[in-house]
Amino acid sequence: MPMQKELAMKRILVTGGAGFIGSAFVRFLLRTYPEVHVVVLDKLTYSGNPDNLKEVCPDRYSFVHGDIADSLCVASSMQGCDAVVNFAAESHVDRSLEGAADFINTNVAGVNVLLEQALLQNLRRVLLVSTDEVYGSIETGAFKEEDSVKPRNPYAASKAAGELLGMAYFHSHGLPVLVTRGSNTYGPYQYPEKVLPLFITNAIDRSPLPLYGDGRNMRDWLYVDDHCSAIDLVLRSGEPGQVYNIAGGNERENIAVAHTLLELLHAPESLIQYVKDRPGHDRRYAVDAAKIRALGWSPRMPWAVGMAHTVTWYRENEWWWRKIKDGSFREYYERFYGPLLSK
Ligand code: NAD
Ligand code: TYD
Repeated sequence: MPMQKELAMKRILVTGGAGFIGSAFVRFLLRTYPEVHVVVLDKLTYSGNPDNLKEVCPDRYSFVHGDIADSLCVASSMQGCDAVVNFAAESHVDRSLEGAADFINTNVAGVNVLLEQALLQNLRRVLLVSTDEVYGSIETGAFKEEDSVKPRNPYAASKAAGELLGMAYFHSHGLPVLVTRGSNTYGPYQYPEKVLPLFITNAIDRSPLPLYGDGRNMRDWLYVDDHCSAIDLVLRSGEPGQVYNIAGGNERENIAVAHTLLELLHAPESLIQYVKDRPGHDRRYAVDAAKIRALGWSPRMPWAVGMAHTVTWYRENEWWWRKIKDGSFREYYERFYGPLLSK
């Protein structure tokens, strides 16, 4: 694979920049490139949170409150930008199992609007942040980029559809689209519906950790800043029309992850409560990251350090998560986990 000449960029549109990974990417860009101006376009859905961008200095950053499916809003936000990096998504598998309409509106129709506008405005790069979940489950080994996508839940299917549209724009119109497929990402500012922040914050409160099925499903864990550096490298040095896997190299069973965080918090194992499994729960995700490693990327954060840092962050930043758990998340938690935990 030929290495692309690194592109210099002055103004970058980050859609979904008020979410977990998007906000980390905004911080990454601003601290890495002193000349870059970042425009964030975010709908501020339940998982979008202005608190995630509190540390960001306003000098080289502007925020637009809007929807990626709104073409007028996308057109004006994109003006003067060299590139768009799309993080905007409905991102939670369990919610997609309750209803997929929002997932299709944002992850498919919204992505289409971004692609249409990027084509009209002749952007130099469009990077679609996607997920290893598009491949589906794998018992042994690891998926390579050329393997077929076989998503098995509505979230993953909607992400696959968005990616495929992107690649279609590349082939039909020559739009310089790139796709990254990252593995399960962890770190500060992750909305507490995802397993790690849910379990950490529950364990801080000595509340049960609802572990699905036999607890032996496997995920590969990628520290959020490593995910950001990989996306940035693909944006600048990747080849348009290509897909890049991103793996953290930390494969763990969910039960092992739960034990690690309980140890870090000196909390008892008895908090683990096995609950009814997620329907169609993918057993294992694993991707081969040789292609992005050949561009010069490798993950820097060791698992033990990343976990310790993440647990400490949640311990020290109750101001951030407690208002979420007492506010918008509470209704979901009670409705979704109430019946599971009462059995
Ligand atoms: P998140 O749910 O924390 O953030 C999503 C953000 O998108 C929020 O700020 C939300 O307000 C915004 N948004 C949602 N719909 C929008 C719309 N229609 N228009 C504008 N903004 C909208 O998600 P995350 O975990 O940060 O994931 C970011 C991206 O990375 C997603 O595309 C996801 O599929 C992908 N990804 C996530 C992981 C992971 O483990 N979290 C792993 C691989 C890939
Ligand atoms: P999640 O954070 O939802 O990410 P994904 O489904 O995208 O991988 O879940 C990670 C793993 O943790 C997955 O195997 C499901 C499991 N899990 C639980 O056991 N209990 C929970 O309450 C949640 C949210 C997830």
